[in-house]
Amino acid sequence: MTPPMGFNNWNATGCDVDEKLIRDMADIFVSSGLKEAGYQYVNVDDCWADAERDPATGRLRNHPTKFPSGIKALGDYIHSKGLKFGIYTSAGTQTCAKTMPGGLDHEEIDAQTFADWGVDYLKYDNCNNQNRPFLERYTKMRDALKKTGRPIVFSICEWGQNKPWEWGKGVGQLWRTTGDINDTYTKMIEILKLNAPLASYGGPGHWNDPDMLEVGNGGMTNTEYRSHFNLWAVMAAPLLIGSDLRKVSKADFDILLNSDVIAVNQDKLGAQGTVLKNANGHWVFVKPLANGDKAVTFFNEGEVNATISTTAQEIGLPRSIGYTVRDLWQHKDLQSAGTLTASLPPHGSAMFRIKASQDWFRHEPSIDAAI
Ligand code: DGJ
Repeated sequence: MTPPMGFNNWNATGCDVDEKLIRDMADIFVSSGLKEAGYQYVNVDDCWADAERDPATGRLRNHPTKFPSGIKALGDYIHSKGLKFGIYTSAGTQTCAKTMPGGLDHEEIDAQTFADWGVDYLKYDNCNNQNRPFLERYTKMRDALKKTGRPIVFSICEWGQNKPWEWGKGVGQLWRTTGDINDTYTKMIEILKLNAPLASYGGPGHWNDPDMLEVGNGGMTNTEYRSHFNLWAVMAAPLLIGSDLRKVSKADFDILLNSDVIAVNQDKLGAQGTVLKNANGHWVFVKPLANGDKAVTFFNEGEVNATISTTAQEIGLPRSIGYTVRDLWQHKDLQSAGTLTASLPPHGSAMFRIKASQDWFRHEPSIDAAI
């Protein structure tokens, strides 16, 4: 009921994946504090299977050299760390990398195989789909997963081609709204602009998915990665780490581990933050939270320093004698009379959590009396 948090290897390794990498990620989830911070799914993307199904049973098999211990053993290892295990295939005859069979017309046997292996999350891609109707392809896998009786998060990876935000609720728990992200500021912004307007379609258990995080992969600055994380968090996006955690810097780890920002992403109300305003790339997002607080993300998309502001009234907080503003990167509470301003470098961002200190009326005895 909150956006999935975890890891997927695709952005870091592509097809070059093996069981050692995935096990290492599970280990690092525990040793680095990621698990404690809420990250739980350790997901394998394309290229994990043998090129052919088992001729005797029709089942998918592990790739013999990349995953020699078998997929069940990998799932068991991940579960032994108190984590959950995700896998991948495509709603087509083959996956996108074309190294393994897809699930089209094999939905039941594949879903059952995944359930038997202890899979907790399935990402279902869209390649090699033979132009078969998308709704039929995705609902068949949904039904097959349901039939196994194992709770498995169903991630619709249809790249936003057929507006999955309009039909994905009730089919899967999340749906990709865009094509693939890559480790550049330009692509991150392109995806932001496609995903941000879809806020009304997201909610608990049915999330817009603007693709995985690139934080730590090295193609953006630490400032840009912080913005990427702030933006994905306020948009209630799944937080799936896409970097090889063995190579991530301390500064980038600090981004992924920011518990104040994660709390906004994981807030129980499950609202996707909306764009309150965006003048010349000076963005203000607001996300209502379950306890009545509002989370605010400021983002300076442009190439020169910018001062961005809003007010308590503008973000929809009640009138109050004052406001407590928590800076989610300084981890400090500040007091405000109702305005919020930040000076931001190019590509920089800030994130706050704002609370009305007191109900206005309770502090105005004369007004109380009049009521
Ligand atoms: C396309 C998807 O959008 C990517 O996230 C990744 O899963 C690749 N396919 C794998 O081939």
